[in-house]
Formats: sequence, C-alpha cells, structure tokens
Amino acid sequence: MPTIAYPVPRGAWRKAAANVKAAVSIPVVASNRINTPEVAEDILASGDADMVSMARPFLADPHFVKKVREGRAHEINTCIACNQACLDFIFSDRPASCLVNPRAGREMEFRDTPSETPKKVAIVGGGAAGMATAAEAARLGHAVTLFEAENRLGGQLNLARAAPGKHEFDETLRYYTAQMDRHGVTLRLGCRATADDLAGFDHVVIASGVTPRIPDIPGIDHPKVATYAEILCGAREAGQTVAIMGAGGIGHDVAEFLVTHPAEANENAAFFDTWGVDGQFRNAGALAGDPLAVVPAKRKVVMLQRKTSKVGQGLGISTGWILRNALRKHGVETLAGVVYQRIDDGGSTSFRTARQKLSPPIRSFSVRDRNPYGRWSRRLRPAAFPPR
Ligand SMILES: Cc1cc2nc3c(=O)[nH]c(=O)nc-3n(C[C@H](O)[C@H](O)[C@H](O)COP(=O)(O)OP(=O)(O)OC[C@H]3O[C@@H](n4cnc5c(N)ncnc54)[C@H](O)[C@@H]3O)c2cc1C
Ligand SMILES: Cc1cc2nc3c(=O)[nH]c(=O)nc-3n(C[C@H](O)[C@H](O)[C@H](O)COP(=O)(O)O)c2cc1C
Ligand code: SF4
Repeated sequence: MPTIAYPVPRGAWRKAAANVKAAVSIPVVASNRINTPEVAEDILASGDADMVSMARPFLADPHFVKKVREGRAHEINTCIACNQACLDFIFSDRPASCLVNPRAGREMEFRDTPSETPKKVAIVGGGAAGMATAAEAARLGHAVTLFEAENRLGGQLNLARAAPGKHEFDETLRYYTAQMDRHGVTLRLGCRATADDLAGFDHVVIASGVTPRIPDIPGIDHPKVATYAEILCGAREAGQTVAIMGAGGIGHDVAEFLVTHPAEANENAAFFDTWGVDGQFRNAGALAGDPLAVVPAKRKVVMLQRKTSKVGQGLGISTGWILRNALRKHGVETLAGVVYQRIDDGGSTSFRTARQKLSPPIRSFSVRDRNPYGRWSRRLRPAAFPPR
C-alpha cells in the first residue's frame, strides 16, 4: 500500500505514532506526509507524538521553519508528495531534486543578487511555467507582466488538481501566486496576448502550454467523444462505460478520476478502506483486509494504447505501481496494441487490437493526446532569458 506518495492523505499515519507513544516512555516522532505547519501543529497539540519529522517538505522549501516563524506560512512552497524529482531521481541514479523547487540539489547554480540591467519582460501564459518564470524574473528585479488568456491562473494545474490525490497542486498555485504578489508581477488575466501586445517589451517568454490534439480518426467528432480537459473540468459528464484513448500519465489520471467516488480521493477513512488499512491501528501491521481487494467503481473504464508495451510502463518509478493497482482494484481494463479504426454508436466494432476484441460495447470516449506546437513558433521567435 502507498505510505508516502500523493494518494496518502496528510498526516495519515499519525495514529501509528500515537500507538507507539502509548506503549513507550521515550520521545516519539511522527512521520510521513506532514507537509504543512497546520498538520504538524495539530499532531503535536493532540499529543499523538512528541515531535514531527519532515523530509520532502524541506526539499520543497528549505525556509519552511523560517517562514512559519515570521508569519509567512502562505509563502511556503509545499511538498505535493509526487516523488517525481526526489525519490524517483534517487531510484534512477540521479541526485535528488524537487518538482516544485528546481533549486533543490542545485542551489549554487541559481543567482540571488538582483539584475544590474533590469528589463521589461512579458510572460505569455499563467500556467506553472509562466508563473514560476514570472516570480523568478521579478525577484531578480525585472519589471514583469504576465498575460493569461483565462480569468484565472494555473493552466493545466487546474485540471491536474481534479485527479484523485492531486489536489496538492492547489498549494503550488497558491505558492506561485504569493511569490508573484510579493515581487510585484503585473497580472493581465483574461488577456490573450497578441504579437502587438508584446511589442514594447525587451524580452518575451512564451509559456503558452499545450492544447489537446484531436487525432484524425473517422468518427472523432461523434457527440460521445470528449477531451480529457472537458471531462476533468466538468464541462462534460462521462457515460457509464468509457474508453480512454491513450494510457500515459494523463490517461491513467483520467481513468482514476472516472472510477473513483469523490470521497475516496482525499479522505483518511476512504484511503484506509481502499487499501485495506485498519484506521484505528488495532491489528498487527494495521491490516484490515487485502490491500488489493476489489472496490466498487463509479463506472466501467477501458484504457487503450497503440503501443504494444506494457500499459503504464512510463509512470513514475515510485508511484506507477500505486496508480496501476488502484485502477486494477476498480476493475479498469487495459488494452495495448490497439489500432483505432472508427468511432460510432457500435463502439465495440470500432477498434482492432493486436490481441483481443473490445468488449463490452463502449458508450463514451475520452480522447487524450497533446499538441506541443503552439501558434507562437510561427508568429514570434520565443525570446529566452538573457544570460545572467
Ligand atoms: C490530469 C493531469 C495530471 C497531471 N499530473 C501531473 C503530474 O503528476 N506531474 C507533472 O509533472 N505534471 C502533471 N501534469 C502536467 C502538468 O500539469 C503540466 O505539464 C503543466 O501544468 C504545464 O504547465 P505550463 O505552464 O507549461 O502550461 P499550461 O498549464 O498549459 O499553461 C499555459 C497557459 O497559457 C495560457 N495561454 C496560452 N496562450 C496564451 C496567450 N496567447 N495569451 C495569454 N495566455 C495564453 C493558457 O490559457 C494556459 O493557462 C498533469 C496534467 C494533467 C492534465
Ligand atoms: C530523496 C529521499 C531519500 C530518502 N532516503 C531514505 C533512506 O535512505 N532511508 C530511509 O529510511 N528513508 C529514506 N527516505 C524516507 C524519508 O526519511 C521519510 O521517511 C519519507 O520521505 C516520508 O516523510 P516525508 O513525507 O516527510 O517526506 C528518503 C526520502 C527521500 C525523499
Ligand atoms: S519532488 Fe515532489 S515529493 Fe519530492 S519533495 Fe518535491 S514536491 Fe515533494
């Protein structure tokens, strides 16, 4: 079962520490997924443990304690428990870093003194990349304006946060918003920047992200087809049986989103139930059943991929197994070696796979695939930051 990765709710294992504390007369430290001052304080105040331990939260923000002490907790860069750049790097023989704090492990490569030649900088796009660039450039003394077409910041983080367990991305959004505010970034929300808007700037950084690429398959415009963005933001409701075209990270997240009952995503009790943990920690090993037992799914989902390789092979080293098992528990089927021929009301006759026919009939579809080539490459030569 997961013990530290993002599906584990904050402070989920505190009662294990409390049980130890009740049985010994030496100080006890609670650990795992204690990533905010509030959770830490609550554990200490409740007496569940004498101390708290934080490992990854200090990779995400080495100034965690200082910020709390100075009343700037809202400026903490919070560990989102993704394991992507810490444990997964270690497991692939790379130095540990951090997804939300690229300085971690590379502290000497970043400059802290303000620029001697401040520039007027425009950032196009208010997703993670645009926000991080804007905050850093403004921190170095540049006059930064960030253009975001939507009325809110975040870009795809607003979709990612909908995936079960990934609500921690909210903290990343909160952190970068606070940083931009602190360093005086001018925000132009609801403004789709054009080349004319960008004329007066010394430098322009394009961080306009990606949009779903619609594959050229007969029937792709069938009313039952939806993009992952439409499904995740709630613009479209999926049917009771869904085929997902594409089984990468987003395909897996969409599958879990579709089969998971909302309460399962973040709640302690639901997490314990899903993974067969005795939430009261009464039994030996705190097991309350089979961690891989089947749990009820919200709907039937089949994931499809063209590649013949194992489905989910590209997922994170330390988290892929969790996602694959969670989907298996919810009865999600996977098919590799699929050739997409046609999408129509028949559903089941629409796909040919290397090994088997698709069954039962599929009633709705969610398409994923992304087009990394924005219009900008044709209209502007993206300006990189000048060497410092
Ligand atoms: C369900 C899901 C789960 C994910 N899970 C993970 C994960 O676990 N780990 C991970 O590392 N990544 C994950 N990702 C991917 C991650 O969210 C993206 O890589 C990241 O958010 C992209 O950030 P970005 O700033 O490059 O682009 P975007 O987030 O796409 O932002 C681009 C922004 O630019 C704006 N824009 C475009 N053109 C203009 C214009 N002309 N003027 C003004 N604004 C413009 C858009 O409105 C958008 O807000 C996930 C994505 C999804 C959808
Ligand atoms: C990069 C990295 C390396 C780790 N190495 C070890 C280790 O060698 N031995 C160990 O017992 N735990 C190790 N851990 C686990 C941590 O000590 C800690 O128990 C775990 O990260 C959960 O706490 P957290 O949510 O505060 O990060 C490591 C964690 C990370 C992120
Ligand atoms: S890489 Fe992810 S899990 Fe690791 S410290 Fe950074 S935010 Fe936390």
